[in-house]
Amino acid sequence: MTVPAVRARKGGRKLVSVTAYDAPTAELLDGAGVDIVLVGDSVGNVVLGYASTVPVTMDEMVHHVKAVRRGTRRALLVADMPFLSYQPGPEEAIRNAGRFMKEGADAVKLEGGTEVLGTVAAMTANGIPVMGHVGLMPQRVSQYGGYRSQGRDASAAARIWRAAKALERAGAFAVVLESVPAELAKRVTRDCGIPTIGIGAGPFCDGQILVFHDVVGLTAAPPPFARAWGNGSREFRRAIRGFRGDVQARRWPGARGGASMPASELAELDRMIEGDADKA
Ligand code: KIV
Repeated sequence: MTVPAVRARKGGRKLVSVTAYDAPTAELLDGAGVDIVLVGDSVGNVVLGYASTVPVTMDEMVHHVKAVRRGTRRALLVADMPFLSYQPGPEEAIRNAGRFMKEGADAVKLEGGTEVLGTVAAMTANGIPVMGHVGLMPQRVSQYGGYRSQGRDASAAARIWRAAKALERAGAFAVVLESVPAELAKRVTRDCGIPTIGIGAGPFCDGQILVFHDVVGLTAAPPPFARAWGNGSREFRRAIRGFRGDVQARRWPGARGGASMPASELAELDRMIEGDADKA
């Protein structure tokens, strides 16, 4: 996948995007035909144990972007810009996004509307493809007072609609719509020339994105808009209990569970041990 290929899917076959934070997950998603792998700053709450995405740093993100790069061959790899890595302005944003690109990202994503337009324009003018993100912006959870859906009255919805249109004009190649009414997402999708990628935004977007752990059923308390297509927690628990049970019952490993030594080397080892024991 390339940035132009993503753009070309506007109004066509739905784009599928899932987050990944490590190489084996990226390989799994890539092999399953996912179009866009997002190294989300959701790594903060999903993997690193933070209460939100706010504490996530550039260094932490780079570590995960490099891992995901090693596992991704076909999908477009998008790196999420963490809180305060782009808000200071275009210079800082280009430096940080450039770091992601040098480490193997194909594009970056950042949250924000009209306040980031100058930054998005400067980044795209300098060869950094940008995916926008409007609606619920998790980096602003403190301002919202919780993860609340956005754009539920006409003026808030109009702000989101205008922000998406402005991001397109600023050069963004796609825009994530998070936790907004389906009717609003439908209008944004209709009126924007770039693909919209929804999460909790109804069925009308050009694509859908979800967090990997939600898709495979590894999240204890998933957001209301998520759905699991498997029960990863149950499978993992079953496997871990199986391992524990087999070790404790001495079923694992079997007699031939390790590397073997030629008999002559084993005899020599025993002679050496005996020699050492005699000296002690
Ligand atoms: O960080 C993230 O995972 C995201 C999405 C799921 C859109 O931004």
